[in-house]
Amino acid sequence: MNIDEQKNFKKTPESYWIASTETTNYPTLNEDINVDILIIGGGFVGISCAYQLLNEGFKIAIIEANKILQGTTGYTTAKVTSQHGLIYNKVQSQMGKELAQQYADANQNAILEIKRISEENNIQCDYVHQPAFTYTQQDKYIKQIEDEIKIATELGIKASYVDEIPFNFPIKAAVRFDDQAQFHPRKYLLALANLVQNQDVQIFENTRAVDIEDDNGYTITTAQGNKITANKVIIASHYPFYNKHGMYFARIYMERSYIVAIKAKEQYPGGMYISEEDPGRSLRSQSYDNGELIFVGGEHHKTGQGKSTVKHYETLIDFANSLYTVEDIPFRWSTQDCMTLDGLPYVGNFTANTPNLYIATGFQKWGMTNSTASSIILKDLIVHGKSPWQDVYNPSRKTIMASAKNFIVENYNVAEQLLDGKLSQLPGDADLKPGDAKVLKVDGKRVGVYRDRQGNLHLVNTTCTHMGCELNWNSAEESWDCPCHGSRFTYEGKIISGPAVRPLRASNDVNTIDKLFTEDY
Ligand code: FES
Repeated sequence: MNIDEQKNFKKTPESYWIASTETTNYPTLNEDINVDILIIGGGFVGISCAYQLLNEGFKIAIIEANKILQGTTGYTTAKVTSQHGLIYNKVQSQMGKELAQQYADANQNAILEIKRISEENNIQCDYVHQPAFTYTQQDKYIKQIEDEIKIATELGIKASYVDEIPFNFPIKAAVRFDDQAQFHPRKYLLALANLVQNQDVQIFENTRAVDIEDDNGYTITTAQGNKITANKVIIASHYPFYNKHGMYFARIYMERSYIVAIKAKEQYPGGMYISEEDPGRSLRSQSYDNGELIFVGGEHHKTGQGKSTVKHYETLIDFANSLYTVEDIPFRWSTQDCMTLDGLPYVGNFTANTPNLYIATGFQKWGMTNSTASSIILKDLIVHGKSPWQDVYNPSRKTIMASAKNFIVENYNVAEQLLDGKLSQLPGDADLKPGDAKVLKVDGKRVGVYRDRQGNLHLVNTTCTHMGCELNWNSAEESWDCPCHGSRFTYEGKIISGPAVRPLRASNDVNTIDKLFTEDY
């Protein structure tokens, strides 16, 4: 397969994790119910929380807007590691040793917890121990790597310095963590979902929460109009859709990154790797079809912003070819991560004034251990009222404001995108090839137009239903993406990911464009 053939994408992206596991078929909620704990979001956090809370005497339900475990969990690199770039030096200098210790303990424990759960329940999830490496090719990061090793070691992590890694490019330095792991997240979590359902946790798919009312307990309304009453609610929906408290829309932004899964002539040397500098590069392997896949990842950018998204796949393919003789690229996918202002997750009470409303989000790019740690923290908060790791994850931590510069920059960027979208010059005609899309201006209004492979046009109102930013076309995934808080929609206007809870107004009849802008549509 030559490089031109590798870049001639004949099919839409497909995640290995999803392609290699069965699809689920949990029911949709079609009645009003009452539970002790409602978990909103059937991803890694939601399923793990239900597992941790088994045997605590609660009646629990999970609702998922689409299919369970097909959000970020289905589009990850699945590194089970406490090495989150060069994080310990940063946390210790910003928040002190005690909180750095909490973060280290939470994530080191999470590695062991996934192993324990999979062994105890006999879950075959390709869990394999691997060392993790963060490397640099630039002099300016050498000192940071040295500091990271010193601090991580003081926190009890097996960290060491190396000056070469087994690839054909030179590095300046790297930090190695031992006793880390990789696995297949959907094999692990589909088995856990099955297990919790067998122990009376109710799981509902295609059941989107669209509103939460808090009045002596919580009442959650679903898109179908059903009501769920609950004493406690865990929002585990990645980007929180609930805007009434907490201002999360102003302190999380979304980033996309990309993975190509290659088959190579050469054998992968083992280990999990990530570069410290930009553009980021990530490597790991996975057993596949009596051989292996090599996952080559990186190329992050803010969702809905930046260059043509197909270019990110092409750049990774060039990088893969610089390392290996690429024989095939059976899978490629992209993912979306919630990024916080100080680089640490928000896990705990939604705000200081909502004792029965909880959240877990903002895992940056490190969702495997952070999701597992979150489920333990939330279990401890719900059952015991406290967790040994609660301070570093506290969504209301004071130190977030030390990141005020980021706060202003990120919100300036959102405001800029809002204005940019409203004022931008729009292309003037619908001369579209199959698979292409454009934003057109019709009677002064923006209309997103996509032509499918059969030649049919699909029109949407490109104003995001979350908070009104203007959507941009994502050519790699063929979706409409929001540059403000990362909501994504299909070309038919259906929600791929929130925080938006309402679909776009859409039509495939060019004679009914007005319908896209009527209030009662
Ligand atoms: Fe917030 Fe689009 S996701 S405005």
